[in-house]
Amino acid sequence: MIAALLAVPVSAPALEQGGLPHAPAQVSTAAPSASAPVPMQTAPAISRISGPDRYATSVAISQHQFSDPAAADSVYLARGDLFADALVAGSLTDGPVLLVPRCSGVPASVSAEIARLAPEEVVALGGPAAVCDETLAAAAGTRPSARLAGETRQGTAAAVADRAFPGGADRVYVVRGAVSPDALAAGMLTDGPVLLLSHDGDAVPAVTAAAIADLDPTHVTALGGTAAVTSDALTAAASGRTPSRIAGANRYETATRVAARAFPDTVSRVYLARGDGTNFADAVAAGVLTRGPVVLAVGPCGTLPSATRSYLFAEQPGRVTALGGTSALCSDVLYQARDAVAPPPPPARPDCSELACVALTFDDGPSAHSSRLLDTLASRDVPATFFWVGQQVDVRPLTTRRAHNEGHAVENHTWNHPQLTTLSLSGQQWQVDRADDELASVGVPRSTLLRPPYGSWNSSTRQLGKPLVLWSVDPRDWDGRTASQIRSHVVSYTRSGSIVLMHDSVSATVDAVPGIISDLRARGYTLVLVEDLVPNMQPGDVVYSRGQVTRASSALDPQDVTLVSPDGVDLGPVRDEAPFVAESPGAVEE
Ligand code: NI
Repeated sequence: MIAALLAVPVSAPALEQGGLPHAPAQVSTAAPSASAPVPMQTAPAISRISGPDRYATSVAISQHQFSDPAAADSVYLARGDLFADALVAGSLTDGPVLLVPRCSGVPASVSAEIARLAPEEVVALGGPAAVCDETLAAAAGTRPSARLAGETRQGTAAAVADRAFPGGADRVYVVRGAVSPDALAAGMLTDGPVLLLSHDGDAVPAVTAAAIADLDPTHVTALGGTAAVTSDALTAAASGRTPSRIAGANRYETATRVAARAFPDTVSRVYLARGDGTNFADAVAAGVLTRGPVVLAVGPCGTLPSATRSYLFAEQPGRVTALGGTSALCSDVLYQARDAVAPPPPPARPDCSELACVALTFDDGPSAHSSRLLDTLASRDVPATFFWVGQQVDVRPLTTRRAHNEGHAVENHTWNHPQLTTLSLSGQQWQVDRADDELASVGVPRSTLLRPPYGSWNSSTRQLGKPLVLWSVDPRDWDGRTASQIRSHVVSYTRSGSIVLMHDSVSATVDAVPGIISDLRARGYTLVLVEDLVPNMQPGDVVYSRGQVTRASSALDPQDVTLVSPDGVDLGPVRDEAPFVAESPGAVEE
């Protein structure tokens, strides 16, 4: 009962409530593999299998795989803090691998799962140093117990292989003994056992050589590159048999190649496990899963690796299931996986030659207030253009990715907000490039627009390779004004074609935005991205509004700029923009 409570998977509807509401895509916007035929894309269902800790997650995986308890004749116990034993157990298909602490009792969730499965036997993987006698006895209760153990982890792997393949195997997989990330995916291979080489993968221990001789395979396949299993060790392990290797450029790609081997046909479900650093617990417990491959993600909230993304796009699974709780893989990772299968369609672009368009822009973030602003924009379906500071993107990568994922434009406001006119051309270029590099590093496209801090630019700034986007409406929101003053100023001064400058680093601005949206819409304005407001912007253009664009080919002195409006309203001079205050990188957790 306890396990059942702990292990209830988070259903897809629960996740989708907080999700990104876009329709299934029918048109590809990104085909990771140029040569592969482009399949029809339908957004997969997303779900999660998890418990509150690694032990309970292994129970949840067991309940998922062995929903029929009669299918499990055995239960295997592996220690939950070192993964070698659990990893090699993937070839055992007659029961789940449940993780336990070495010798500090049996978690209640594990005991309950053993009671549910009522196996004929409870088997510890490894000797008492891995799972102590007291733990095994407590887990087994009145059921028969046994051990699959050698004197070393290599010996334990050989014992597992002997049990899983009593009649020998046509293929044997070898991985390095110090379980490397490359080996994580080995659990999904069921056509042959996984044996361990020496700690560094550069020698074949006698017990492993003996196991290979007993299994008498025709193929010996190393998992991982030569850094994980040396060529000499592979040759020695093969000992005259056909050697081969499954390896990618990194652990994530290796996992997808193992997945392709383990599941060569259509894949209807893909499991996603955390594989970065040494956070492997859920991935190794997943070795028992047979309904689909396990591929790896960066936890808890990292950018989905390109190899994993490409695999998902190519396979088009109908369901993607995260293993482990949100502290292992957050919901954003699942959304990234969903979008990798079915990239969201590009939104319909407004035609601002027909509509009265206005662009809302927000500078100096991402900040502590930006998420609240994004909530407002999402609930009212308003796109915004953010001119964000690279240094803040570094501090708040999740907010940055969210803004991009929700259809906003994330553009360049330099790395740390200097007055560019005090810098040389190369100094200015460094500021812009460094900010773009930061966007790329958090998984957001490099910018196409630049807003110079303080609206301060010179002839060098026009040579930085981007249009300069200034503004025509400035409520001076940073200057201690109330939300109602900000709203009133914006609504009074905005005209068709306006670019409105605000700051998502200012709480009162975020308070004012719902009213600004309502008022502008009531006056018939359509809120759009700057790139839709002003078509065909080119590097070196200076843009104050849709109607006030100086093309790159024309000289312009910043001192000569005054703002004009199509209907002759005095919009006042171009004002200075807010002083910028950076957040300290250590002060924010995202
Ligand atoms: Ni600024």
